[in-house]
Amino acid sequence: MADREPCNKKLEGKVAIITGGASGIGEATAQLFADHGARAIVIADIQDEKGEKLAASIGQNRCACTYVHCDVTKEQDVESLVQSTIQLYGRLDILFCNAGVMSKSQQTILDLDLSSYEKLFAINVGGVAASVKHAGRAMVEGNTKGSIICTASVAARIGSDTHTDYVMSKNAVLALMRCASTQLGAHGVRVNCVSPGPVATPLLCEAFRMGVEEVETRFAGSYCLINNGVLKVKHVADAVLFLACEESQFITGHNLAVDGGFRLS
Ligand SMILES: NC(=O)c1ccc[n+]([C@@H]2O[C@H](COP(=O)([O-])OP(=O)(O)OC[C@H]3O[C@@H](n4cnc5c(N)ncnc54)[C@H](O)[C@@H]3O)[C@@H](O)[C@H]2O)c1
Repeated sequence: MADREPCNKKLEGKVAIITGGASGIGEATAQLFADHGARAIVIADIQDEKGEKLAASIGQNRCACTYVHCDVTKEQDVESLVQSTIQLYGRLDILFCNAGVMSKSQQTILDLDLSSYEKLFAINVGGVAASVKHAGRAMVEGNTKGSIICTASVAARIGSDTHTDYVMSKNAVLALMRCASTQLGAHGVRVNCVSPGPVATPLLCEAFRMGVEEVETRFAGSYCLINNGVLKVKHVADAVLFLACEESQFITGHNLAVDGGFRLS
């Protein structure tokens, strides 16, 4: 059998929304989607300056790219995001549902602050539910065999000494993915999760009050893959691309860990 050429245009013609797309994992994924020939990318975030700058740079010569201010805790924002995408680009093939936060203060169950917990849940869980709901509706109505990828976390599997609300929220994302994948399967819409290990993005650096190198050193000994370097946003974006494209066309309801076999040390 002849060797197949590696495909570097895995998303040709596809229209994608990325929530939390202005920074970190979302930003790296937007860049990779553009490299892989997406027709249009909509970056949705609340960091307007960063989002607009990124959209302008991707939109300059690679593919259509727009920034939309969208606070995922507001269902109306999410609904308008999906509607404006359909109006502008005619369809929606991919949702990367990635916006999320981590609590700035550490907490065990004994000192859980329920009002911060509610705020975190509104973003990490409510925001994901609203995004999957409206993107799912658009895909079903448009008869599009789309792909939805939600960002969970290795923390959902291993727990945490210090971030109880975050771990709970990421387990809720996994539960939502399992329900949505079952319910949307009949329409040909796939729903999966990606679960990154610790990556030195603004979210993690701020939560641990550390710089990039400090975070990377802190977790360097925690991977089973001890000689493969440290986890970077690019590794997560590669997994998201796989779940978004046709190569994963028979995969749904799956949680893809991108954590180098992370274990607590
Ligand atoms: N960095 C890690 O170690 C790690 C590990 C596992 C999972 N994750 C998850 O990855 C996702 C992306 O995080 P990141 O690490 O790239 O951090 P990041 O801070 O670089 O990116 C998160 C983005 O979400 C946006 N956002 C926050 N609240 C929002 C809201 N209400 N509406 C719209 N956008 C909002 C932020 O503005 C930011 O651009 C999150 O869901 C996070 O929980 C991160």
